[in-house]
This record gives sequence, C-alpha cells and structure tokens, in this order.
Amino acid sequence: MIPQKIVVLATGGTIAGRAARQHDNIGYTAAQVGVEDLLDAVPGLKPRVFAAEQVAQVDSKDMGHDVWRDLARGCSRWLAHDEVAGIVVTHGTDTLEETAYFLQAVLAPRKPVVLTCAMRPATAIAPDGPQNMLDAAAVAMTHGASGVLVVCAGTVHGARDVAKRHTYRLDAFSSGDAGPLAYVEEGLLRQVRPWAAHADANADLLARVLAAAELPRVEIVMSHAGASGAVVEALVAQGVDGIVVAATGNGTVHRDLEAALLNAQTAGVKILRATRCAEGVVVGNGKEALPAAIDLSPVKARIALMLELLR
Ligand code: SIN
Repeated sequence: MIPQKIVVLATGGTIAGRAARQHDNIGYTAAQVGVEDLLDAVPGLKPRVFAAEQVAQVDSKDMGHDVWRDLARGCSRWLAHDEVAGIVVTHGTDTLEETAYFLQAVLAPRKPVVLTCAMRPATAIAPDGPQNMLDAAAVAMTHGASGVLVVCAGTVHGARDVAKRHTYRLDAFSSGDAGPLAYVEEGLLRQVRPWAAHADANADLLARVLAAAELPRVEIVMSHAGASGAVVEALVAQGVDGIVVAATGNGTVHRDLEAALLNAQTAGVKILRATRCAEGVVVGNGKEALPAAIDLSPVKARIALMLELLR
C-alpha cells in the first residue's frame, strides 16, 4: 500500500503571523495562528492530513534546541506510521535552513520531511503561506521523494544547500551553486536533481540527541577587519565546547583571531572554519591547522560540530 496521508507539524513563523492591517507585510507578529487555522486556509488539504500538531509557536529567530528535539522526536514517531507518506513542518524563514539541516543530520529520513514557510503574514492581502503549504503537501505525498526538503515559492531545496538569501522577496531561498532539487507546478513535481541520500541508520545519533541533558555548546565568531581574539578568549574561559569561525573568502582568518583559535584548539576546544561568503565552498588541501567545514555555512557548521561533539 502506498501511503497517501501527511502529518503537519507547526512551529510558528510568519506563515502563522498576524498584522493589524491587511496591507502590512512587515509590521506583524509572527507565530500567532494555530495549526488548524493554517490548514483551513488551504483548500482541499484537510482530507489528506492524518494528524496535525502544534509542536511550538515561535518566531524562528528565537528557535532553540528544545524545539529541535521535540520536532525530531515527533518526525521520527510519525514517519514510522505506515499510513503516513511524509511530513510538512511549518516554520519561520529566518532559521529554517538550520532546522532543516539539523533534522536531515539526525533523521536522514526515507520519507520526505518538508519544511515550508511564508514571507508574508497569514493576514496579508495576498499571503504566500497557503500556496507554499499546498506545494509542500504535494511534495510530502510524492512517492519516492525523500530526505529533509524545503519548499518555498514553488521551489524544492535540499537541507544541506538551502539558505535564506533575501530579506523581503517571496522567493527568499537559494541553493547556491548546487541549485534546487525540484519545482512544484500546479501540484506536480518536476525533479531536476536526485534526493539526498537517506540512511535510516541515524537511530543512534537521534537517541543521543534526545537523551542529552543539553546539546554541546558551540558558538560562532566572525573574522573581519580589525578582529581580535577577545571573543574567543572569553568563550574559552566560559568552557565552550566548540567554535565555528565565519572566515573571510576561501576560509582565511584575521591573524589575531587565528592565534586565539589555535590556542583554543590546543586547549581542547573543537574549531571549524566556514566561509562567510554566500556562495562557494572552502577549497583547501585538508592540511590547514584549523579544519574547514567545506560547503557548510557557519550556521550549519555549528550544527555539524555540535553533533560531532555529541558522538
Ligand atoms: C520567523 O522566522 O519566524 C519570522 C520571519 C519569517 O518567517 O519570515
């Protein structure tokens, strides 16, 4: 039997935002509208929904590890149901790429887990949330789709490559050099790249994530003109577990900051270098004193390092 139903897990964001005036697309409060009302705004969706849960109700700038763990737990539970084809997660755009990367890392699911969002609040004259939800549901119900995916403005992105690239446009996400995985057109999927590899072997990592009292503390520092080692020294003094440096260009770091990072590394703090450039990867020979996150942005490198420390 091919499963035909989806589960919707809501976490807040602009898609659930409310403004006092219909023509106001920025002066709204995120995370106000409940999951049932979100579903009601999408014609024909409810009969395809196996279950809907309000996992959280947050502006995603305030996203935290506890919500991530609740989401991972919920996804894992619902994915195990034979009747469930896939999951749609509604989420704010601001940290959506981080949640997507985290879920892909700990679940690597065979079925699709589709994060979707909106750039305009639910109260807008022309909200983009209902169409995005409809498109996300189409992807979640597509037989053969897999992995953690992001659907926005008719485009399907993979969790590893996707990043928010625009502050205002409805089509706010990009997969950079890699490009999107697919497009949704009138409910049909046009796939242009293969889905991410799925593992179904991450049970151990998921168990560790759920069992940990707290996830390891990994902070991000940025290399910039006039940088110093002061922030790194303060973090080391506080007992930080790992530091990601958002490096310039092809992974270069201001010499004063680099000196502090090397000292931190010698003291046992894990360091990872990611580029602060929006496009491209850190191209190196693997022999540099500070290891590189290659294609991961600083925010995703932070998650990768956190999970590595948990292992
Ligand atoms: C948020 O990220 O929760 C607010 C902004 C948005 O969803 O676009």
